[in-house]
Amino acid sequence: MTASRCPVHERFDLLAPDFLADPYAVLASLPLDEAPLFYAPSIGYYVLTRHADIEQVFRDPATFSAAVAQAPLVPLVPEAAEILLAGGHRPQPSMVSLDEPAHARLRKPAARAFSVTRIHAMIPAIEATTARLLDAVAGQDEFDLVAALAFPLPANIVFSLMGVPDSDFAQLKRWCGSRAALGWGRPAPGDQVEIATSMAAYRRYLRDLVERKAGQPGDDLTSALLAIYREDPDRLTREEISSILFSLSFAGHETTTGLIGNTVRRLLEEPGRWARVAARPDLIPAAVEETLRYDPSVPVWRRVTTRPVTIGGVDLPEGAKLFLWLAAGGRDGAVFPEPDRFDLDRANSGQHLAFGLGLHYCLGANLGRLETRLALEELARRYPRLRLAGDQEFAFHPNISFRGPQVLRVRAGEAP
Ligand code: HEM
Repeated sequence: MTASRCPVHERFDLLAPDFLADPYAVLASLPLDEAPLFYAPSIGYYVLTRHADIEQVFRDPATFSAAVAQAPLVPLVPEAAEILLAGGHRPQPSMVSLDEPAHARLRKPAARAFSVTRIHAMIPAIEATTARLLDAVAGQDEFDLVAALAFPLPANIVFSLMGVPDSDFAQLKRWCGSRAALGWGRPAPGDQVEIATSMAAYRRYLRDLVERKAGQPGDDLTSALLAIYREDPDRLTREEISSILFSLSFAGHETTTGLIGNTVRRLLEEPGRWARVAARPDLIPAAVEETLRYDPSVPVWRRVTTRPVTIGGVDLPEGAKLFLWLAAGGRDGAVFPEPDRFDLDRANSGQHLAFGLGLHYCLGANLGRLETRLALEELARRYPRLRLAGDQEFAFHPNISFRGPQVLRVRAGEAP
């Protein structure tokens, strides 16, 4: 195919209320057969919707840099920018937006924490936390599943993995609350200052945690990373350890909250689906994978070109910012037949791109899947007749990359 100029969609805006409410309706309205890759002036990004194009980008890190992965969509007011810099939060604040070789310096030691053995060892803690959280709502006919389980479960697991004392969990959750708005939303100037202040306080907390663990090691990830530092301080500095902790706590939190919320929502949307999964819990992994394809909790990720390149038949200049619409890739009919149908029996759901691909492939993919599976198993065991509470419109946090219902009211249903 001859390379061509890029189509432009003037009105495409991912933070518009109709998009936040139902991005799949907007996706369906786009002329993707003629223009699967287009430019969106509202955000200054090229939007990629085809599975094959997104895969090509992920697999070529030399041409497609990760530098913009966490870049704010709006310029920050000087006060917020200064607070962030003073707090040690740089424009590429953690491994997910670093290219080689800086990325590998952080990824290699962090990956040790995610060995199959270590993840497996977390099962009892995940089960115990799930049971404790569900005990707290036992007997209630109606409750918010996000507040009860989907939000606190991943937060508690990732904080305890890091070695944060239980007594600090509530404070950390408050600091982390609106982080998504900074790199992925359009926060108002006043909000930017507030978020930047929380972010700087959180970074300070993590540096102090590293210092404390240096004096008093425990059986946790921070102490394991400090052991690498003690072996060879040039290989991993203390500042880098706190940067890894920042990555993990951020990446391992809202992402999984969203995945649990989206999976439960999609299963309850159609009563037969929940009943089927409750009767056959061995279908839960398939349900999680199909949700990652059909309604992923990280619907969008970003890259920037390092040289002029042609992709999907379109010429892109050097410095072109790319918006990889992972959720659209999951609905690509060239890979997934009848893509708009949620199908528990789909053979190739796992081909979704919801965890990225290549050098930056999600480090916590197995942990996120495990937490979601165990949460669903216990929920289905306790509530085989769970259903959505009536009359609810789902609300979503206004950002481009983290998606899950903020509130999911469910009804316990009568006992079986
Ligand atoms: C369960 C839902 C999750 C989803 C949908 C998700 C999605 C993603 C995506 C799309 C990326 C970027 C991949 C790329 O650039 O190629 C990523 C990176 C990452 N994720 Fe996840 N994630 C999830 C859970 C987790 C958890 C539980 C953790 C850790 C506790 C985690 C840690 C990370 C880290 C550290 C990176 C950066 C890896 C790197 O730059 O090398 N994620 N994730």
